[in-house]
Amino acid sequence: MESHAAIVPGTPPLLPYAYYAPLPSGSAQDDDRQQASGSGVRWRACAAVMAAAVLVVVALLAGASVDRSSPLGGGEAAAGVLPTVFPRSSGKDFDESEKASLAYSADEGGFQWSNAMLQWQHTGFHFQPEKHYMNDPNGPVYYGGWYHLFYQHNPWGDSWGNVSWGHAVSKDMVNWRYLPVAMVPDQWYDINGVLTGSITVLPDGRVILLYTGNTDTLSQVQCLATPADPSDPLLRSWIKHPANPIILPPPGIGLKDFRDPLTAWFEESDKTWRTLIGSKDDDGHVGIVLTFKTTDFINYELMPGNMHRGPDGTGMFECLDLYPVGGNSSEMLGGDSSPDVLFVLKASSNDEWHDYYALGAFDSVANTWTPQDPDADVGIGLRYDWGKYYASKSFYDQTKNRRVVWAFVGETDPEQADKAKGWASVMTFGPISCWPRRRWSSPQRIKDRYRLQSSHIGWK
Ligand SMILES: *[C@@H]1O[C@H](CO)[C@@H](O)[C@H](O)[C@H]1NC(C)=O
Ligand SMILES: *[C@@H]1O[C@H](CO)[C@@H](O)[C@H](O)[C@H]1NC(C)=O
Repeated sequence: MESHAAIVPGTPPLLPYAYYAPLPSGSAQDDDRQQASGSGVRWRACAAVMAAAVLVVVALLAGASVDRSSPLGGGEAAAGVLPTVFPRSSGKDFDESEKASLAYSADEGGFQWSNAMLQWQHTGFHFQPEKHYMNDPNGPVYYGGWYHLFYQHNPWGDSWGNVSWGHAVSKDMVNWRYLPVAMVPDQWYDINGVLTGSITVLPDGRVILLYTGNTDTLSQVQCLATPADPSDPLLRSWIKHPANPIILPPPGIGLKDFRDPLTAWFEESDKTWRTLIGSKDDDGHVGIVLTFKTTDFINYELMPGNMHRGPDGTGMFECLDLYPVGGNSSEMLGGDSSPDVLFVLKASSNDEWHDYYALGAFDSVANTWTPQDPDADVGIGLRYDWGKYYASKSFYDQTKNRRVVWAFVGETDPEQADKAKGWASVMTFGPISCWPRRRWSSPQRIKDRYRLQSSHIGWK
């Protein structure tokens, strides 16, 4: 495994982003002159939007009293300076073609751009791995005084493959410390990928990690892992449970259509833990939501019926999410059926690669979620974002009484460009998408918040 250096608490943070380093030769002004065309204008407009988005984020983060200056390198990186970071080194508008050619060809007067020189393309606020490929956010959780973010990761390449769980921790969700890769494909039941999953912290402090394993025969099965040392606040080492796989695709469910177990919640009425798994019904090509219950996280029972069945044609629902907004909702999912509590049900549409959601009434006892407006059901109505944005995953941040949503933004660059950069994909900002727990959130308000969010995501 390469370079995911372990850290210990108390050591200075690693500097994940290298663009504060001196730039390669060729100043911003020179490049601007060569580029004094429409794309330059477009770039400026975009930079203005970006700067505004950054200020919004900074405002939203203000409550967190984040000290951004030191970990990002010297006192220079104060929040006020950030917008000027986004112009990057050359101030060019790197649309796809420009970016691609610049990244890996010997154009620009025959200049051979090295991987190191392209490091300035690393993001500022958006999380990304130290290097190599990333996709879905996995198992976000606040534990041991740290925000943990895991992610689908190829530790050995810049494109999808060798699917592992990368891991980083942060105190503020802006400055991150990279940790060793948490799990790699090394068992028959996950040898083709340690796929997406979630973490649940039980009331007694036990940490439960559920993930989808892609088996040696490319079936999707659910697996359990637990921390090797629960007293390690960094949760650096994980043990895959000997009982794995703990859930096999039930009869009638496609072997490749069964994935992404959701953070579990406790259902008081029958004292079981519940988790959701995304799937599809080929009859109608429709996304469905399966509910499993358990008392020990090893033995599971599929609850009858689908918790929800999307409109026909929606296709596979993956990366499900379900959480309350408004009312007296608790951080866990169940427990409050008062009518002013609405639940967001979100599914990532595998057909479209978009994150759809709808608001509805959730009945944990009856195992149903019913959309407020059937004409805007999951998969045909609202989307989290209208740009490039996928596989979102939320978690409840108990330190600030809010819900935080992560998602990843894939590359539009060709793969060769990703290779030249040495990385691919970024995470969207976490803290911007949050709801005060005890406040009514109207659909409109949520839409407004998402609009705010969509003003910056897609940027790297
Ligand atoms: C997977 O990892 C191996 C090294 O263990 C590497 O040779 C191979 O290229 C990687 N595959 C991809 C798709 O990155
Ligand atoms: C929320 O909970 C509080 C305290 O239990 C209660 O007084 C209040 O009426 C509840 N509000 C709603 C809308 O259920």
